[in-house]
Amino acid sequence: MSETLSNLLREERRFPPPASFAAAANVTAAAYAEADADRLAFWETQASRLTWADPWTEVLDWSGAPVAKWFAGGRLNVAYNCVDRHVEDGHGDQVAFHWEGEPGDTRAITYAQLKNMVCQAANALVELGVRTGDRVAIYMPMIPETVVAMLACARLGAPHTVVFGGFSATALSDRILDCDARVVITADGGYRRGAVSGLKPVVDEALQRCPDVRSVLVVRRGGNDVGWTPGRDVWWHDVVDRQPVDHAPEAFDAEHPLFVMYTSGTTGKPKGILHSSGGYLTQVAYTHHAVFDLKPDDDLYWCGADIGWITGHSYIVYGPLANRATSFLYEGTPNTPDEHRWWEMIERYRISILYTAPTTIRTFMKWGAEVPEAHDLSSLRLLGSVGEPINPEAWMWYRSVIGGDRCPVVDTWWQTETGAIMISPLPGVTATKPGSAMTALPGIEADVVDNEGRPVPNGGGGILVLTEPWPSMTRGIWGDLARFKETYWERFAAEGFYLAGDGAKKDDDGDIWLLGRIDDVMNVSGHRISTTEVESALVSHSSVAEAAVVGATDPTTGQAIVAFVILRGGAADDDIARVLRDHVTKEIGPIAKPRQIMVVPELPKTRSGKIMRRLLRDVAENRQLGDVTTLTDSSVMDLIRDKLPSAAGED
Ligand code: WTA
Repeated sequence: MSETLSNLLREERRFPPPASFAAAANVTAAAYAEADADRLAFWETQASRLTWADPWTEVLDWSGAPVAKWFAGGRLNVAYNCVDRHVEDGHGDQVAFHWEGEPGDTRAITYAQLKNMVCQAANALVELGVRTGDRVAIYMPMIPETVVAMLACARLGAPHTVVFGGFSATALSDRILDCDARVVITADGGYRRGAVSGLKPVVDEALQRCPDVRSVLVVRRGGNDVGWTPGRDVWWHDVVDRQPVDHAPEAFDAEHPLFVMYTSGTTGKPKGILHSSGGYLTQVAYTHHAVFDLKPDDDLYWCGADIGWITGHSYIVYGPLANRATSFLYEGTPNTPDEHRWWEMIERYRISILYTAPTTIRTFMKWGAEVPEAHDLSSLRLLGSVGEPINPEAWMWYRSVIGGDRCPVVDTWWQTETGAIMISPLPGVTATKPGSAMTALPGIEADVVDNEGRPVPNGGGGILVLTEPWPSMTRGIWGDLARFKETYWERFAAEGFYLAGDGAKKDDDGDIWLLGRIDDVMNVSGHRISTTEVESALVSHSSVAEAAVVGATDPTTGQAIVAFVILRGGAADDDIARVLRDHVTKEIGPIAKPRQIMVVPELPKTRSGKIMRRLLRDVAENRQLGDVTTLTDSSVMDLIRDKLPSAAGED
């Protein structure tokens, strides 16, 4: 880490916003002063950007800390705020989504059409017995119906849990069982890499373990053959399309649960992160307005994330729709039919704001600047990054090759748990530095502290904390308040700080640089994956006696999963690396597939039996080994190294 720190200190490039951008920006430097003067009044102003059925009586009730209540007593309907009110305001003909399927088919859906679709889907869910408070699982490709399904749930006050379409049947059933969803919305399949990838078959397999699921609503997208359970499975076009296009939205309490989003923790069991309605929508809408400078009448906004992750929830669905954005939505992979796909679409649709992840940017770097340079990207005016630390080189490439040195780049730090962006430049205000998320947004309080919870001075490194509650903060882990308190609030209980789990440093100006996770959570292509989860998947295979997993630095994906396994009774199989990779794919999903599997005779452990991941990471990254004196038997590392050349199995 010290090497990273000294590199950062030398970063002297500054990129102030272009004068024309600053002059027209949605939010100016005054916002910081306003929030500093009265933080709660500032958030009240932001909440007033929404339409409330009943006003709140108290801005923040922190008496039940760490479970906050924001805008207590207020009532609103999230779907009404995202759709109906724009139609009522005369914007029914404005396109909400320009959608493009991977094969090239297109749809444009106006706010008026979206309203009808959401009402029909809500009516259909009511017919399927969904009531306020019931959980609905959504396992879908990137198609407009996914947004419609989420908004229909929100309209009914039925919390959704969207499970990323790349997850396996086991991962899906774990999530359905954890939140006890009785209805699942899915599609037959979706397009990925030029072919239909089945979703319904995965649901069928998952539901073998979920006997309480009574209805599966299936959108026809891929046209692939699917199994059918009569009485349980219904087609969307049979049930939704015949519904009336009116549905009266009921107002719910600001604290009514909006959704549960599962994310990896340091143990094997994923955490169901719970989000509220009023506070969540207030902050996603405000941050989308402030950080992306969205002009609803002019911009075409594209967030390239998957809806199955928090970024998709907050910045494809809720934030942009609350702000009446016109968004672009794309179903497939960036290199289908070839590497020009994204840039060709940006050129054709004249997209003006792009939000993506460093791993995607680095992949494009690998494919070569000549690919985007073959396109007219002059419509772009703002670029955003999210999901992992962006290295200065990728930041500069993004700015110059994609942004033509003209677009502000906003590196946005936040998490599933924070619900919305927390640390980021304001594009019309901040003179950015390549690789830094800069400062907390107006109304947000973040700091970098040492082990004792004391703020580090400028130039120092430590642990990132959030020192005051914020509107879109998670209201807990579904069904596990104790784990919520322990994971995020115990470490700095005396100070009342929220532990984000990230290391960070303040540079000499006090600007924040994120340095990656401080726990055993890997970040692979912006996906959070716990080492424990992959280890559990590996040892669930009959050939594996023991497994240790580390995230090794990878030039494209940020980190890559490297697994060290001890086989049972020397069960040597030439094909074992492939077998185990397939096994992990089946257990968790392709995103958790190890890049490399190393068969080893022993694992390095401390005297207390804790696996020394730091040493394994050194091996995985081919570094010189660090200190091994705490090992039970330091010759273990020699054994491991000796074994490597023959055992490493790469794709
Ligand atoms: C990391 C994604 C550095 C961080 C929105 C965090 C980042 C985790 C950044 C949350 C960034 C996200 N710079 N690191 N701009 N954005 N991270 O829950 O480690 O999928 O804790 O939310 O991603 O990942 P999650």
